[in-house]
Amino acid sequence: MIMHQPISYAYLETTNYCNLSCTFCNRDEVVKKLKHMSLMDWELVLEKLKDQPIKEAKLMGLGEPFLHPKFSTICKMFKDYFPKSFLIVATNCQYKMNDNFKDSLKYIDLLYLSIDGYKESYEKFRPPSKWSKLINFLEEIKRVERHNCKITCNYVVNTENIIDISKIEQLCDDYKLEELRLNIAQDWSEDKSLSNTDHISGYSLEQIEYLKENYSKNIKGKAPWTWSDCFWVKTGIYMTVEGNLKVCALNTDTMSIGNIFKDPVDKILNSKRMNEIREGCTKNIPSKHCKNCSYKELSPILEKLIKQ
Ligand SMILES: C[S@@+](CC[C@H](N)C(=O)[O-])C[C@H]1O[C@@H](n2cnc3c(N)ncnc32)[C@H](O)[C@@H]1O
Ligand code: SF4
Ligand code: SF4
Repeated sequence: MIMHQPISYAYLETTNYCNLSCTFCNRDEVVKKLKHMSLMDWELVLEKLKDQPIKEAKLMGLGEPFLHPKFSTICKMFKDYFPKSFLIVATNCQYKMNDNFKDSLKYIDLLYLSIDGYKESYEKFRPPSKWSKLINFLEEIKRVERHNCKITCNYVVNTENIIDISKIEQLCDDYKLEELRLNIAQDWSEDKSLSNTDHISGYSLEQIEYLKENYSKNIKGKAPWTWSDCFWVKTGIYMTVEGNLKVCALNTDTMSIGNIFKDPVDKILNSKRMNEIREGCTKNIPSKHCKNCSYKELSPILEKLIKQ
């Protein structure tokens, strides 16, 4: 039996509050009870994780991280426990810039601003966002002290918003965003396959050619990819705001494998269900948990898009 190795990558949700209902996000299906994690519970989480060699962490989940009223303290506490780790956060920019945001930048290494479309299409895929609110936020971003935080744009690509990528490239220049990251839209539900999602699958040959010729370097992801390449089952972990541990961020509506407040982390990582999921990946015979994995489903298209 293959054991889980120590955790080097952690994806930790500290709030599931959100002010948007994005069309490509499965938050509405997953989040039932709204919660900000208390600082006391956060301390307990960090105590439980402190012996793990976490190199990279994302402090986000199915919520808007900066709606947590103490998010800057959440980031500071994380960095106090893991001073050498690389901390990544994403934000939807749909709120008024405040001190909570500004203070957080002292601790965050990489911040993604989630912008996936221009004007009408931005508002269409991120309801009830307002383009004007985004622009106000970007004006503030221009002036804010960034400390050592790299600020980039994260663009979730679908068949309808490809046309806007060049405008957002210009926006990145105008507002000094350091990179335009393109992520082909994924589906984070266990029972759903991307092939059933029209605006996500079904890129035309022209669109593929256009993306490849112009944006190959901006496209994120690994290809070719198969289940035995999955790092999550070996060295990663995903935690919800209730402390429920899940295997990965690619299947967020699945049953949890245990709760960080109730059981030792090593016991959860090597529980029967976790072992079965890991074994399925290792042998390339995916368990139900991994059958519709978006990494696998996107591999053929990413192979076409990413110039080797
Ligand atoms: C789940 S969000 C949480 C942070 C924040 N609420 C936001 O939207 O930036 C984290 C990142 O995942 C991206 N995302 C959401 N749904 C996605 C999907 N189906 N495929 C790929 N990326 C997705 C978002 O655009 C965002 O950049
Ligand atoms: S992508 Fe982010 S902003 Fe949009 S609904 Fe999901 S968590 Fe909220
Ligand atoms: S769904 Fe399975 S294969 Fe895909 S990332 Fe998650 S654990 Fe890995």
